[in-house]
Amino acid sequence: MNSILITGCNRGLGLGLVKQLLNSNKPAKHIFATCRNPDKAQELNELKAKHNNLHIFPLDVSNYDSFDNLVQQIDEIVKDDGLNVLLNNAGVAPRSTRLNFAKDTDLRETFEINAIAPVMLTKAFIPLLKKASSANESQPMGVQRATILNMSSLMGSIEDNGQGAAYAYRMSKAALNMATKSMSIDFKNDGILCVTMHPGWVRTDMGGTNAPMQIEDACKKMLQTILSLNETHNGTFVRYDGALLKW
Ligand SMILES: NC(=O)c1ccc[n+]([C@@H]2O[C@H](COP(=O)([O-])OP(=O)(O)OC[C@H]3O[C@@H](n4cnc5c(N)ncnc54)[C@H](OP(=O)(O)O)[C@@H]3O)[C@@H](O)[C@H]2O)c1
Repeated sequence: MNSILITGCNRGLGLGLVKQLLNSNKPAKHIFATCRNPDKAQELNELKAKHNNLHIFPLDVSNYDSFDNLVQQIDEIVKDDGLNVLLNNAGVAPRSTRLNFAKDTDLRETFEINAIAPVMLTKAFIPLLKKASSANESQPMGVQRATILNMSSLMGSIEDNGQGAAYAYRMSKAALNMATKSMSIDFKNDGILCVTMHPGWVRTDMGGTNAPMQIEDACKKMLQTILSLNETHNGTFVRYDGALLKW
């Protein structure tokens, strides 16, 4: 792939994916890593000092008014190549998950960051994704052409829900999965692949210390899967290792 934009790259899986991308055999020409406070993103800035293909941009994914400006800045860098991959990774998970502790504010904020923001950011980047798809028209669907990848969670699977609770998080990820399915239909003829992915249960601030997977391992497997996505994956829910998941 020529270019990829990832949200929420100052820590956790976003940062882990940036590291994997930078260390890959054929690193992308442009890796656009966004985060809310670039000044405080120490590790990301250290990587930037060593890698010319890493660009850091400030982005609060709930600040929709800032999207056009970001798109314009990326457009000026990628020019006619467009943007190959948009990876909506930034997410939140409220602490209280049982219904008697549910707060309307948590439900709204989680829905906003995990479901609404990826839709709005995707809407803003569609012209650049279409440009990349047209520029690579002879290529099969995949990251070498144009791809929207939404970082979901198995917690968003209705069929897999055997434990209840986690209202805000489960609802937001189920909605993100539905949005991905619609995108996969709406942009199929444009050659843009749309996939929703579960990264595994990973030891990040969100995943917690009991999570079985380390960030490096999860991100290595996710990148392998991301690089191998093809048209058979369009509109599917995949695990970090490529296994198909139930909705
Ligand atoms: N870890 C797991 O086990 C697991 C499992 C399933 C799915 N996931 C999903 O994987 C994704 C990454 O999770 P993670 O484990 O890496 O979580 P994390 O360590 O808590 O990191 C979350 C990232 O999202 C960013 N973020 C939150 N709100 C934002 C906003 N309004 N604008 C921009 N960035 C924002 C955070 O930035 P700040 O530092 O500025 O807050 C941070 O970079 C999420 O979508 C999550 O739901 C994780």
